[in-house]
Amino acid sequence: MSIRVTSLFPLPQEKVTNTLEYYEKILDQAAPLRARHREEVHYAIRDLSKMLTGDRASLPKDYMGDPRTFNAYLRFFLPWNLYRLTRLFQGMDFDLPNDGVIIDLGAGPLTVAQALWIAKPNLREKRLTFINVDRSPKPMREGQKLFEALAPKSPWKMVNVKGGPSSKVREKANLLITANMVNEASSGMRTPLPLWANKFSQQISRMLAPKGKILIIEPGIRRSGRVLSLLRNEFIEKGLSILAPCPHHEECPMSGEQGKSWCHFNFDSTHAPEWLQKLAKKCRMEKDNVSMSFLYVGQADAPTPVPEENSMLIRTVSESFRIDDGGFGQYGCAAEGLILLLAKGEARSIFPGGLVGIPTPEKLEEDLKSGAKIVELPTRAIHKGANAKPSDPKSDHKSKSDRDSKPVERSGSRPDSRKSHSPKDASDSWTNSKKSNSPKDTSDSWTSSKKESYKKNKPPRK
Ligand SMILES: C[S@@+](CC[C@H](N)C(=O)[O-])C[C@H]1O[C@@H](n2cnc3c(N)ncnc32)[C@H](O)[C@@H]1O
Repeated sequence: MSIRVTSLFPLPQEKVTNTLEYYEKILDQAAPLRARHREEVHYAIRDLSKMLTGDRASLPKDYMGDPRTFNAYLRFFLPWNLYRLTRLFQGMDFDLPNDGVIIDLGAGPLTVAQALWIAKPNLREKRLTFINVDRSPKPMREGQKLFEALAPKSPWKMVNVKGGPSSKVREKANLLITANMVNEASSGMRTPLPLWANKFSQQISRMLAPKGKILIIEPGIRRSGRVLSLLRNEFIEKGLSILAPCPHHEECPMSGEQGKSWCHFNFDSTHAPEWLQKLAKKCRMEKDNVSMSFLYVGQADAPTPVPEENSMLIRTVSESFRIDDGGFGQYGCAAEGLILLLAKGEARSIFPGGLVGIPTPEKLEEDLKSGAKIVELPTRAIHKGANAKPSDPKSDHKSKSDRDSKPVERSGSRPDSRKSHSPKDASDSWTNSKKSNSPKDTSDSWTSSKKESYKKNKPPRK
């Protein structure tokens, strides 16, 4: 028997890695630091990190307008976001028309446009218009300089709009992206979160062109997971389709409500630029993993993943962990609810974010401690490793001929070829995350609470 696995976060292509490595020069060229800022930028980064991870209500609205804070953002948070976004974008097929419109809500220094340029060379010839919307205009102006240094001959048009989700934007979006903004925008409000989600989902749905899609990306912290789960409910109620990461439209089993884990993915930071890792070290904010929650939504008629007959579709979410009675466990999500995937004997765990179709077991036993349905991973061949080529969340369930493609080595089911392929080693290497203060890589995630959950066989951090 063979199973097919595709991944959300393929390894960066060489050109992507090279561009991110070179990006420090782009920063020096388009946003040079004054001597006094250069000397103390690592302190400014630490200060901003505290502001972003602390009580967001105390975050000044125009924190991006302050030169010291903004420089810290440009030098550290922007490039880490570029790394996270390019890893995600590489695996997606946005299928944008020529003359397509992208709305970037909470655009900051145009992180989304830059990440798309780096990760999607097939879009570079298209005459795309970016409507960048932010309540703070200065980061967008500075971001435009960075974009021009990164892509001097780009046909993409940048239109910067001072505003927010309630702004009336004339153009309708083929793709609306909002990255690292929703958590901020929904914090410090008197409105309860479910009401905020209802209003926000309405506002952004109205900005879409026919067949337009929405992609919301957030740091992988519990609050983001909670907000995204609420937004997901709203979109489903409005009849929209959830394209990724959820392999179903049933109730979200990782909603981040009290007593529940939240949906987020960790992937390695080893492919991030060396200069950025060095800077992280200097700031004492090193990280082995980066973390992300996201939601990709299409119109009602957009094709969504459908399981084959008598099989279930499971999105692996957590990293793998040792289980008491031998082998490895890993949490995943399916229409059937929270899944505990067991890899015993020769079977191997799957990289977080993998989508796998598995024959439905005759009886779905429940794990007494976590309440998850137990599904054993088959020990035999896995078709088409995620590492074979960047995959598209939409394309996970393409044609039969694609499905029947040649089997690859099972080790290919882990996108990170620089790490060991044995479940044991893999699990060990995923455990050794360094403690981080970064808001993008919060300790409040699968990684940090893993050790505890290994022993108890429970989803982390209830
Ligand atoms: C953390 S930054 C993210 C910037 C960029 N998208 C990125 O991923 O690097 C959040 C941005 O959202 C903007 N923002 C937050 N709440 C907003 C709101 N209600 N309306 C408009 N912009 C908002 C902030 O001004 C800031 O530029």
